[in-house]
Amino acid sequence: IWRDVPPGPPDAILGIAQAFRECTAENKVNVCVGAYRDEKGQPWVLPSVRSAEEIMLSSENKEYLPIEGDSAFVNKALRFAYGANAPLDRIAGVQTLSGTGACRIGGEFLSQFYSSKNILVPDPTWGNHHKIFKECGLTVGTYRYYDRSTNRLDLQGMLEDLRNAPDGSTILLHACAHNPTGCDPTDEQWDQLLDVIRQKQHLIFFDSAYQGFASGDAEADAKALRRVMDAGYPMLLAQSFAKNFGLYGERCGTLSVVCHDAAQKDILMSQLKCIVRPMYSSPPKHGSSIVRTVLSDEKLTQQYYQECASMADRIQTMRQRLVQALQDAGSSHDWSHISEQIGMFAFTGMSAEMCDTLTDQYNIFLTRDGRISIAGLNDDNLGYVAKAIHSVTDG
Ligand code: LMR
Repeated sequence: IWRDVPPGPPDAILGIAQAFRECTAENKVNVCVGAYRDEKGQPWVLPSVRSAEEIMLSSENKEYLPIEGDSAFVNKALRFAYGANAPLDRIAGVQTLSGTGACRIGGEFLSQFYSSKNILVPDPTWGNHHKIFKECGLTVGTYRYYDRSTNRLDLQGMLEDLRNAPDGSTILLHACAHNPTGCDPTDEQWDQLLDVIRQKQHLIFFDSAYQGFASGDAEADAKALRRVMDAGYPMLLAQSFAKNFGLYGERCGTLSVVCHDAAQKDILMSQLKCIVRPMYSSPPKHGSSIVRTVLSDEKLTQQYYQECASMADRIQTMRQRLVQALQDAGSSHDWSHISEQIGMFAFTGMSAEMCDTLTDQYNIFLTRDGRISIAGLNDDNLGYVAKAIHSVTDG
């Protein structure tokens, strides 16, 4: 038994994180996974999160959550995304295992109940999108998103691919701080994209994993999503609290579907619960209790927004310093795209071979698409990383 089972390939992101953990070199650098690190390279538990945990210690029990999760958390989470005046009476929302779980529940819902089985994701996108939606039985295609020759958004290619997709396709859009490119459409570009989406009656599926990391202001980062909501487009939203609350291991997020009215919301809620129950029964409690506790307390909420902004600020500073350090190392390449990109990543434009050299010769662990998690840079490793990048990209 099991003799014919072939080994599975390592994950394109988490497999590299594993290789980093196994590496024994003293000078190893982890710029692979999109996870915030402080200026000493350490994970950071937000003080507002710690305060919430202290409050919870005396008040929370360990009972199961309902299938759909903690509804008080879900309401807070949806207001965080859709805005304080969000019409919660017609948004069906369930708590999920972070963004991955949200995409999976949403994909299953589409697979069972939406007429089109086509979903288009950007090229490039977070690698797991392809696998998640394929596992849901959807046909996953791509639309052009990023022009590697200019290192900028490929607006014309994107418009063309959205126009050429079958009517009513699902279009996966990153709500902000596109992963891996750090390149978002401008307001004017959103105008053009939404025009085509409306003409073609496409269904928008937003993935919001970095709200707060694009501009440092979580409210401002929701503007594309809120604009689509206000314009009355049909849409789904996968929301993650991994990055902006630093709750990576707590697996905390939501999946929501905007409905016509409250009656439709009730029906969709019943179906979303039917999807969740045989998959994992009900979601874990700790992370959602943290988010609910923080967002239920005015002072903790204000503190939280500042802490989120401080993470975005540090990343933004390191982004500029990386470009400077590359110049200081003697690089004459145009790295202006790195300064212009936003969010947690620099999409450098390096080839897979260059990335392999960085890993094999310099013990710098990054994904093979040339993406660097800026949060992994600090005073101690910045010069080393810049010199190594210069040496693999020079000539
Ligand atoms: C990333 O892109 O590095 C993160 O979203 C972590 C993950 O699960 O891949």
